[in-house]
Amino acid sequence: MKATASSPANIAFIKYWGRKDDKLLLPLSTTNSMNLSNCIATTTVEFSENYSEDTITIVGSNDSTKELKKSDGDKTEMLFNTLERIRTLKKFKLKAKVVSKLNFPFQAGVASSAAGISALVAAGFEAAGLSEKVKDKKELSREVRISGSVSAARSVEDGFTEVVYGETHNDVYVQQIADEKHWDLVDIVAVLNPEAKKMTTTFGHEVAFTSPFMKARVEYLNGIPEQARQAILEKDFDTLATLSEIDSINMHAVMMTSNPAIFYLSAGSMEFIKKVQEWREEGIKVFFTFDAGPNPHLITTSEFAHIIKKKAEEISYTQFTIYNEPCKGTQIIQDHLF
Ligand code: DP6
Repeated sequence: MKATASSPANIAFIKYWGRKDDKLLLPLSTTNSMNLSNCIATTTVEFSENYSEDTITIVGSNDSTKELKKSDGDKTEMLFNTLERIRTLKKFKLKAKVVSKLNFPFQAGVASSAAGISALVAAGFEAAGLSEKVKDKKELSREVRISGSVSAARSVEDGFTEVVYGETHNDVYVQQIADEKHWDLVDIVAVLNPEAKKMTTTFGHEVAFTSPFMKARVEYLNGIPEQARQAILEKDFDTLATLSEIDSINMHAVMMTSNPAIFYLSAGSMEFIKKVQEWREEGIKVFFTFDAGPNPHLITTSEFAHIIKKKAEEISYTQFTIYNEPCKGTQIIQDHLF
């Protein structure tokens, strides 16, 4: 009872922040994103009587490893709960060994959870013989979502995707906007020197409504994901740039004004915001967007990607960059990790 899945992280253009329901992880709007070709997790899950307890090991591209413990945090607890949910569905008691390998450095502050959670859920269900849930992308995305992350649910489909807004568990699922060959967008992630310890997104979602700006965010979002979807379909870079930068800043304004305040952006992030504005004035097509961390995602087209990579690496705050193109979503593969 062994299966392996690969799945990418993604970068959101219109972001998910705050929830309608903390248990079912129901977002407050549709959110959309692009899969990232060089931020991929490959995960093997085996259920066997050889194991006396569930173990989850993460291996980074630099071969650093980490054993996850249920007590590590909400997201890890939810992953262990997913293994339990699979056992309950299939009515067996076998424990699982899970190994997840990332193709980018672990602990670099790059969102590995979307890749890791989606790959683990797909491999886990497949290993248990629940492949009908894996083949049905909408259903897989629901399972991924309730396993810990709305953003991870977007990684299930190929290319440019969205998780749609809905009132119930069944109504919130992934759908494709366009496949990975649709548009030659590139996301250069500049990994900056780490500063303060990261506040978890789980906590951030829970306190989002303590910000007086959160209500305004929900109102402003009305119609925005649809405009971003249209910009992606029409390959309208300038519109996507405007919508996406506004959305990222809007989300960070909510984060910074919640109680307690959450500061993900650093001095290095601010330096990049200034630089992106300068680069645009030089005629380069580029925009920035930040998730729950200081690392700028520099979205550009293949024409300007190499110059942006070079410029990003020249900035003193940058440790290294990761070059990403749109790519396929979650897939079952035949090469097991063990
Ligand atoms: C800021 O709880 O879905 O990245 O913490 O990455 O697992 P992870 O994700 P989740 O919150 C993501 C929040 C975000 C915006 C986004 O990707 O939509």
